[in-house]
Amino acid sequence: MKSSEMKRIVILISGRGSNMQSLLEGVASGVLNVGVAAVISNRPQAGGLAIATAQGIPTRVIDHQQFVSREAFDTALAAVIDEFSPDLVVLAGFMRILSDDFVRHFDGRLINIHPSLLPSFPGLHTHRRALEEGVKVHGCTVHFVTPTLDHGPIIVQAVVPVFDEDDEDRLAARVLAQEHQIYPLAVGWFVNNQLRIVDGRVVFDGAHRFSEALISPQGR
Ligand code: GRF
Repeated sequence: MKSSEMKRIVILISGRGSNMQSLLEGVASGVLNVGVAAVISNRPQAGGLAIATAQGIPTRVIDHQQFVSREAFDTALAAVIDEFSPDLVVLAGFMRILSDDFVRHFDGRLINIHPSLLPSFPGLHTHRRALEEGVKVHGCTVHFVTPTLDHGPIIVQAVVPVFDEDDEDRLAARVLAQEHQIYPLAVGWFVNNQLRIVDGRVVFDGAHRFSEALISPQGR
């Protein structure tokens, strides 16, 4: 594919950026045929910014604390994203609730990764809550974003076992390893036009098989 035809993504982060890094590694290794137009953080101290800069990716900081309202921040954020004309906006640990207008503006080209098997455990502290509930499987989800928090058409999920001796950190690490597997997969399917939304659900096209969208339980 010529670079002029290559799809472009913008990645939004708030912190360490390990999911962003998994995407950059996918691009660097040639597995993911996409251009990373920019990495944008709402936090100046986000560790992921240095990782992106070291790999030559343009970065921007739009500090939410400098704005008087959620709407003002979201408007500024959308304007900066639009400067890069992305085909897809990828939320990778972006810890902001987004306004309805923002979500509508990027409708169908805004995806998120969440550390639970949605629709279970939307919101924060997913691993702690999974342990408290005693669930036997847990995992992570990549989904299109809708105005409802941690909700939207599901693209791919990975499942991990929950062990009796788990604590929050062990379970989080097991899930995070799977996040790093499924986010590049989902972005690749999107940019290769292998999925679409039908009646609020993701369906896969062509030779791509639904079974690939479930990553089965891994061992310890
Ligand atoms: C990940 O667990 C992601 O699912 C959640 O926030 C965390 C971000 O981690 N939304 P990182 O910044 O990608 O390392």
